[in-house]
Amino acid sequence: MTTAHDVVLVGGGGAGLRAAIAIAEARPELDVAVVSKVYPMRSHTVSAEGGAAGVIGADDSLDEHIYDTISGSDWLADQDAVEMFVEEAPRELIRLEHWGCPWSREPDGRVAVRPFGGMKKQRTWFAADKTGFHMLHTLFQTSLKYGTIHRYDEWFVTKLVVDDGVIQGVVAIELSTGRIETMTAKAVILATGGCGRVFPFTTNAAIKTGDGMSLAYRAGAPLKDMEFVQYHPTGLPFTGILITEAARAEGGWLLNKDGYRYLQDYDLGKPEPTPVLRSMELGPRDRLSQAFVHEVEEGRAIDTPYGPAVHLDLRHLGAKVIDAKIPFVRELCLKYQNVDPAAELVQVRPVVHYMMGGVHTDIHGATPVKGLYAAGEVACVSINGANRLGSNSLPELLVFGARAGRAAAEYAAGASGPTRAGLRQADDEHRRIWRELRGREPNGNERIADLREQMQHTMEGGAGIYRTGDSLTKAVDTLHEFQGRRDQARIEDHSHTFNTELLTFLELSAMLDVAETIVYSALRREESRGAHQRTDYSARDNDRFLAHSLAHRASDGSCQIRYLPVTITRWPVGERVYGR
Ligand code: FUM
Repeated sequence: MTTAHDVVLVGGGGAGLRAAIAIAEARPELDVAVVSKVYPMRSHTVSAEGGAAGVIGADDSLDEHIYDTISGSDWLADQDAVEMFVEEAPRELIRLEHWGCPWSREPDGRVAVRPFGGMKKQRTWFAADKTGFHMLHTLFQTSLKYGTIHRYDEWFVTKLVVDDGVIQGVVAIELSTGRIETMTAKAVILATGGCGRVFPFTTNAAIKTGDGMSLAYRAGAPLKDMEFVQYHPTGLPFTGILITEAARAEGGWLLNKDGYRYLQDYDLGKPEPTPVLRSMELGPRDRLSQAFVHEVEEGRAIDTPYGPAVHLDLRHLGAKVIDAKIPFVRELCLKYQNVDPAAELVQVRPVVHYMMGGVHTDIHGATPVKGLYAAGEVACVSINGANRLGSNSLPELLVFGARAGRAAAEYAAGASGPTRAGLRQADDEHRRIWRELRGREPNGNERIADLREQMQHTMEGGAGIYRTGDSLTKAVDTLHEFQGRRDQARIEDHSHTFNTELLTFLELSAMLDVAETIVYSALRREESRGAHQRTDYSARDNDRFLAHSLAHRASDGSCQIRYLPVTITRWPVGERVYGR
C-alpha cells in the first residue's frame, strides 16, 4: 500500500510533536503524518524529570547561559547555534505555558526556577520533578487541535527512501497487523530520540534503540560527534532509573563509603551549607561521572550486587521539601530500591543517559540529504558539543523541533512528489521486510537477545566513561564480527500481529550501526574532551580536534570519519572552571 503525505515525522515525542504543531501553524494546507513506534504519550520525553533551562531571572542574561553551555560543551558546541538556542528557549517555554504546561511557581506567582549542573544562574524551569511528563502532555493535547496532523501510532519505520540525494518518503510497518506501507513525503523529519540501549546500563527506555540515527546513516546523512556519550551521575544501581539532578539542586550530597563528600577533591569547590552554583554536586555531569570512577579505583565506593555505587544523601532536606520539590524521587526510591530518601541513604551510580552526537544538521534541522530534517536527541546541531548541561535538552527539543518543522514546511510547500526510482526502492524494501518476516535464516544459530547483550557489554567495556585505543580497537573488531553474526540471527515468530521478535531484530540492526559509529569516532579522536576521556591521550588537543567528527557510511558499508570545524563566534577556547 502507498499513502501520500506532505511531511512525515518519524517519532511522536517532544521534538516530533513540537515540529508537527509548527508545520500545522506555518502551513495549514500541508498534510502531516506522525509515525511513532509507541503511542506518543509513551515516548521517552515523558520520563524527563528535572527541568528545562531558559533565561528568565532579572539577575541572569542570555550571554551567561550561552557561556555556561559553551564551556560545559568543552568548546565543541557551535556558538552560532548556542546563541540562537538560548535566545529562543524562553519564548518556547512561555509558549508552552500558554498551551497549558503547569510550570511550578513561587508563592508570588512567578515561574519557579532551580539550579542545575554546570549552570551559574538559576534558570531551570520545572514542573515538580515530572517536567517531561507535563511537557509531553501539553504538546500532545495541543497537537490534537490540528486536523492536518495524522497519527500512525505503533508503526515502525524501516527505511528512508532517497533518490539522487532527495528524500521521497519512508517505508513503515504497522506493528499490530504487520502491514507494510510506503508513505511518500516531500519532507521527512526524524525525531526518534537517542540510543542509550546500545549500552547495558541506561536511564533510557527500552524503545531508545537509535532507529532514527541508523535510518539517516543508511540514507547518506552522516552522524556527528558520536563519541560523546553522556553518563548521568545518579542512576539507581539495579534498574538504571534516573534520580534527577534536581535532587542535588535542592541540596542533596554525594558521599563515598566513608560518608565523605568526595567531590571536594576534584576541583569542583568546597562544601558549603547550601548548594553553590557550578560547585561540588552541581558540577557538570562528565566531571562527576569521572570522579566516581576515581573513587572506585581508590576503593572508596560501596559494593552492591549490581556493581560499585556511592550514596546520595537527601536526609537533611527533610520530608516536607522532598515531597514538595522532588516527590517523584521519593516515589522511585521507595518503589524500586525500597529506601526512603527522607530517612535513608540512596545508592546511586553513573548511568548512560544521553547522546551528545546524532544526525548532522544545520540550525534549521536540515541534514545533507535534501528534504530530510532531524530534531531533538536524534540530531546533533550542535549545541551540546562534548558534554551537555542538564536541563538544556528539553528546551532543545522545543527550539529545534519548531525550527525543523518550519523549515521542512517551507521546503515541502515547493517540492515535488516521489520519483519512479524512489517508488521502486520502496517496493524493494517491502520485499525485504516480507522476507525477514516469513523466512529469516530458519537455521540461523544466533539469538537476537544474546547478540544484543554482548553488544551492550562490548560498548561498556570498550567505550565507557574512560576509553583507550586498545579498548576501542577491540570493540571495533568485535562489533564487526557482530554484524556478520546478526545475519545469522533467526526469527522464529512469523506472525503478523505484534511480531516483537521482528521488531527487536530491526532494532538490533539499528543499534549495531550506531554502536559502530560511536567506537570508530572515539578511536579516531586522539584527545580527551568532555565526556570523551582517553587515558592514552589525556589532554585536550585543540590543534587537531577542535572539530566535529562526521561518521559516513561508505558504499561497502564501512564507517568513514571526516571532520568539520567548530563555529566560534564570540567565545575563544578557554579552560572549564567550576567551584568558583
Ligand atoms: O537529572 C535530570 O533531571 C536530567 C535532566 C536532563 O538530562 O536534562
